[in-house]
Amino acid sequence: MYLPVILTLILSFVTNLTICNERPVIGILTQEVYWSYLNHLKPYNNSYIAASYVKAIEASGGRVVPVFTNRTTEYYMDVVNKVNGILVPGGGCAFNISFGISQSTNEVFHIAKRVNDGGDHFPILGICLGFELLLIASIGGKNPLTCCNSNNVNLPLNLIPTMEEKSMLFKTMPKDIRNILLTEPVTANHHKYQSIMMLNLSFV
Ligand SMILES: *[C@@H]1O[C@H](CO)[C@@H](O)[C@H](O)[C@H]1NC(C)=O
Ligand SMILES: *[C@@H]1O[C@H](CO)[C@@H](O)[C@H](O)[C@H]1NC(C)=O
Ligand SMILES: *[C@@H]1O[C@H](CO)[C@@H](O)[C@H](O)[C@H]1NC(C)=O
Ligand SMILES: *[C@@H]1O[C@H](CO)[C@@H](O)[C@H](O)[C@H]1NC(C)=O
Repeated sequence: MYLPVILTLILSFVTNLTICNERPVIGILTQEVYWSYLNHLKPYNNSYIAASYVKAIEASGGRVVPVFTNRTTEYYMDVVNKVNGILVPGGGCAFNISFGISQSTNEVFHIAKRVNDGGDHFPILGICLGFELLLIASIGGKNPLTCCNSNNVNLPLNLIPTMEEKSMLFKTMPKDIRNILLTEPVTANHHKYQSIMMLNLSFV
């Protein structure tokens, strides 16, 4: 006689467990297939996210939602309101902020900047192409890259002077991790291009 009650209790407990959790929700920007030798894979009007980025976020305890390209500013504002951070992945694209992942990164960057100017902060992680696109968004769509040859070298980070006082990331970073980053060769560098302009991400 009590069985249905007990089952209902267990079910509501399990449902609560599933619904209430504090795992951050991270949006990953999608991108179109860019390289011509992959043309045979190119589906019309479609975009992709490399599985490794989803796996990396999930392995770190986060949940992933896709964030599409070529959408309106309202779409990206809605996304920023609903996720805890954005990851801009590596890959390839035209450096043109009017379409594709260049456009979505540019939108998200400026919304995050407004959030920051309002006294809050919104994290964006750019990896490889993603980092270049954040840089391009920060200087109004210009292409700041020049050729260089810096492959397979491990280096410590060299911060711009105001980085530590302005940056949320560096301000709150544990001292031991900061010291490792600034003094030991722990960053992997594989560059064919370098930026000749200073990245204006002082609010990161
Ligand atoms: C791609 O999108 C455009 C604009 O929305 C549409 O006109 C076109 O039919 C689409 N192409 C395919 C193959 O779905
Ligand atoms: C986004 O727009 C660009 C340029 O119009 C187009 O090449 C690309 O296929 C579009 N992407 C999607 C997913 O529709
Ligand atoms: C960027 O793309 C837009 C729309 O496709 C085009 O009109 C413009 O000429 C492009 N800009 C550059 C610098 O290629
Ligand atoms: C970086 O951005 C800040 C705030 O938007 C601006 O005041 C500053 O001039 C910019 N610095 C550079 C080097 O563009």
